[in-house]
Amino acid sequence: MGRYEQQRNFLKSNFLEFKHVKTDKIKGLPKPAIVKPYSSSSVMIDLPECNEDVVKKPNIYELIKQRRSTRFYAEDRLSLEELSYLLWATQGIAGTNKAGLTLRTVPCSGATHTFETYLFIMRVEGIAQGIYRYLPVEHKLLFMFDLEEMDQKVDAITLEQPFVPNFAKKAAVMFAWSTIPYRSEWKYDISAHKKILIDIGHVSQNLYLASESIDAGACAIGIYDQNLIDEVLGLDGDEEFVLFLGAVGKKRK
Ligand SMILES: Cc1cc2nc3c(=O)[nH]c(=O)nc-3n(C[C@H](O)[C@H](O)[C@H](O)COP(=O)(O)O)c2cc1C
Repeated sequence: MGRYEQQRNFLKSNFLEFKHVKTDKIKGLPKPAIVKPYSSSSVMIDLPECNEDVVKKPNIYELIKQRRSTRFYAEDRLSLEELSYLLWATQGIAGTNKAGLTLRTVPCSGATHTFETYLFIMRVEGIAQGIYRYLPVEHKLLFMFDLEEMDQKVDAITLEQPFVPNFAKKAAVMFAWSTIPYRSEWKYDISAHKKILIDIGHVSQNLYLASESIDAGACAIGIYDQNLIDEVLGLDGDEEFVLFLGAVGKKRK
C-alpha cells in the first residue's frame, strides 16, 4: 500500500459500504448522552446571557473579508460577555430536534455534536485563570482546576509553532475541543470519523468570525501534543480526546 493510500481513503465517502453496516443504533443499543455529565458539587460560573450588543462589527461581508489568523494579541482581557458570545457562537444550543438531539449555532452531521469545549482561561475579566469546561445546555462554565505554570504548559502543548513561536500563551483564552466519537459512531459507525473532522471545521470557522466581530482575533491550532493535552485535561485519549485548538485574544491597536 502506498504511503498515503490509507489516509487518502479515509478522506473519501464510504457511504455505500456504511449502508450495509448494522450500527449500534440499529441494534437498539442505548443512545449516548448528548453532553458529558458532571458532578452536582462542581463549581459553576454563570455566563451572561448572550447579547448581540457585544458585536462591534455586524457586517458579515466585512467579517469574511477581514478574517485572518491572528497570532499577536493585545494585553486587554476579554469581557465575560465576549467569552459568553464566543461559546454560544461555537457550541451554543438553539433548540432540540425530534430525536432529542441538540441544534446548535454550528451545523453538524446528524446533529450528533460529539464535541466538548475546554478552556484555558488566561485573561478574561472576572474569571480566575484556570481550566474550565463549557456546559452548553446550562450555558455555564464549570471550573475544573487551576493549572500551575499555565503559560509553560500551553507552550508545551502547542509544540513548535511554525509561524509565530509560543503565541498561544499570549492569547486571552485557548479553546480545546475534544471529541467523544461514540456519539457519532453509534449512528454512523465507520462513516463517523470523516464527519467529525468536517464538523470541527465549522466550529472553528465560527470562532474566527465571531472573534473578528468583537475586535478580537483567532487562530486555529492543529499542531499540538496529543498525549500531553489529553493528560492535562484528564481525558482517556480513547473514548474522548482533544481534536483541535483555537487561540483568541483582543487585537492589537
Ligand atoms: C486545520 C488547521 C490547522 C491549523 N493549525 C495551525 C497551527 O498549528 N498554528 C498556526 O499558527 N496556524 C494554524 N492554522 C492557521 C493557518 O496557518 C492559516 O489559516 C493559514 O496560514 C491561512 O491564513 P489565514 O487564516 O489568515 O487566511 C491552522 C488552520 C487550520 C484550518
